[in-house]
Amino acid sequence: MLKPKPSIDTIQPYQGGKPIEEVQREFGITDIIKLASNENPLGPSPLATQAIAESATQVHLYPDGNAYYLKRDLAQHIGISEEHLILGNGSNDVLQLIAEAYIAPEDEVIYAAGAFVVYSLVTKLCSATAVVVPMQNDTHDLAAMAAAITDKTKVIFVANPNNPTGTMVTVDETAAFMEQVPNDVLVVFDEAYYEYVSRSDYPQTLPYVLEGRNFAITRTFSKIYGLAGLRVGYGIAPPALIETLNRVRQPFNCSLIGQAAARAALKDTDHVVKSQEHNNIGKAFLYNAFDDLGLRYRETEGNFIMLHVGQSGADVADALLRKGVIVRPIAGYGYPDAVRVTIGTQQENEKFIRDLKVASRQLSAIR
Ligand SMILES: Cc1ncc(COP(=O)(O)O)c(C=O)c1O
Repeated sequence: MLKPKPSIDTIQPYQGGKPIEEVQREFGITDIIKLASNENPLGPSPLATQAIAESATQVHLYPDGNAYYLKRDLAQHIGISEEHLILGNGSNDVLQLIAEAYIAPEDEVIYAAGAFVVYSLVTKLCSATAVVVPMQNDTHDLAAMAAAITDKTKVIFVANPNNPTGTMVTVDETAAFMEQVPNDVLVVFDEAYYEYVSRSDYPQTLPYVLEGRNFAITRTFSKIYGLAGLRVGYGIAPPALIETLNRVRQPFNCSLIGQAAARAALKDTDHVVKSQEHNNIGKAFLYNAFDDLGLRYRETEGNFIMLHVGQSGADVADALLRKGVIVRPIAGYGYPDAVRVTIGTQQENEKFIRDLKVASRQLSAIR
């Protein structure tokens, strides 16, 4: 067989969960809930589903490769110009474009241990050297990340908030960090859960872009906007950087239906507010339930919680799966005794807690 370039051998293909239908068939259960991928349990905005239906008759046409209207709406929404924006097939696509455009094999890329997995994937893809910096309290240690910069550093990825820990870096930490980063290093703040954050010391990073720093922000329609299945994400960066990314981007990387749905979703502020409130209520419910059970967790700024289960997270996830609750074991992130659970509807959260109690008891009895 033809050998791929050496760095590709080190990449583990993404392990997707089984489709819900397959879990239903295998375990003979019907009421399955998926709390494994940090999707919005309220679903998409009704305005988005309407736009999807309306644009369905147009799918014989290629999408607008420049996403003219979506960029215009987003620019207005964010308060920037269209030249600061690039659309992606999900924000993962934008992260990969950044890597492909900027990271060469001789470069170093800094990210945190326990940070979102894509930074490691794209670093390997580019055959570059990963400089993985330990977290402090499951949180990006920006001071240590700044101290890890060398003259080979090209890109630093920061997930804020981070998946799977749910933790965030503050405005002060970010300001101190940015003072230390030389301007020939590109800083990428991945803000996939931006709209869920409620802490007031969360950094607004747009000024770094507008100052013309080598700074990129990625955000997405997959999370609070409930459009994960359509794959629409975007990057915000200085125009010169966007121009470079556009050279790497496939011309039609953001689908026609995705663009239409994202525009509609952006207009539905009620749905966003409802989703935020819903998430906060679910979060409080789950914190309480975990406290009652004596289980340790990290307070989250996202729509998911890292929960320590006091035993193998993989075993607990497997036992829950058999009861029809899909959660994510996160041993691969360095947390073998934890699972990541998405905050669901009230009914889903209640079922999760009920089944978690039974699954934990059963597993303890087995051991
Ligand atoms: C921190 C973080 N960044 C980026 C993404 C990618 O999302 P998408 O490609 O759907 O925009 C995710 C998805 O889970 C995430 O958790």
